[in-house]
Amino acid sequence: MRSINGIGLENVQAVYSGPEGDLWELIMGEQIHIGGLASSLALSAKAGDLKGLKGVDLCCCSGAGMRFLVRFCNVVGMTGVDATEKVILRGQDRCRQEGSSDKIRFVHRDVGDTGLIAGAADFVWGEDAWCYVEDKASLIREAVRIVKAGGILAFTDWVEGEIPLTPDEGKRLLTFMKFPNILNVQDYKVLLEKNGCRVIVAEDTAQFASHVDLYLDMLKKQLTYDALKIIGFDMALMQSLACEMMFMQKLAHEGKLVQGRFVAVKK
Ligand SMILES: C[S@@+](CC[C@H](N)C(=O)[O-])C[C@H]1O[C@@H](n2cnc3c(N)ncnc32)[C@H](O)[C@@H]1O
Repeated sequence: MRSINGIGLENVQAVYSGPEGDLWELIMGEQIHIGGLASSLALSAKAGDLKGLKGVDLCCCSGAGMRFLVRFCNVVGMTGVDATEKVILRGQDRCRQEGSSDKIRFVHRDVGDTGLIAGAADFVWGEDAWCYVEDKASLIREAVRIVKAGGILAFTDWVEGEIPLTPDEGKRLLTFMKFPNILNVQDYKVLLEKNGCRVIVAEDTAQFASHVDLYLDMLKKQLTYDALKIIGFDMALMQSLACEMMFMQKLAHEGKLVQGRFVAVKK
């Protein structure tokens, strides 16, 4: 695990309560994760048949993942846990608009201590968000606690690739992204096994680099005005954000930053 000091939940809440969060949504869409719908479909396919099941989305943001699961996988009920009030209010509104409020509820809590009943979920879900959580050990312990025996944990996350980041690259990436730390595929595998899971999938989706290319292309060629509007037409800020995105693009193409996909069963 690679860590930095001085980044915590307040920094992440500030991102998702403000313009930075809106900027991520502009470039990624309502599903704020690499690969959007295709990535969710790939994860659900690896998780198995979720029809008729009840799940928990840890770090659900505005709940796009939960609405996906209800609409495309016939999941009967979802509970989403997130620590940022603004995204929860936005999510509740979107669920009302889509008519899925009866199947989806939101809980405003830290994912390390959800307060949810032990063993009550058939599966736990997460998409590109656990990288923001400082205490990964508590997060995985909590995820395993709330799922029933034989239940599934299925998630994607931003992880360090097989080519390690240099210390300077790690510091710059974590500072820009407001990640307190970042794991690699093996770190997650070990953590899941330590918590009594059998790991079925632990892999690099191999789609990170092409998607950062896409985001930068859209920002340059189509969404420039919209992005500038979100950040109050601050040209200097736009320049520095673009510079950090290009730095991430370089890391991704070097195989140092990837999207990991994981499926595990609680024994
Ligand atoms: C990238 S967004 C999640 C995107 C979402 N999974 C999707 O696919 O659309 C990250 C979310 O994690 C939440 N988050 C980060 N750390 C958290 C924590 N410790 N407890 C609860 N939520 C947290 C943030 O508030 C934010 O809404």
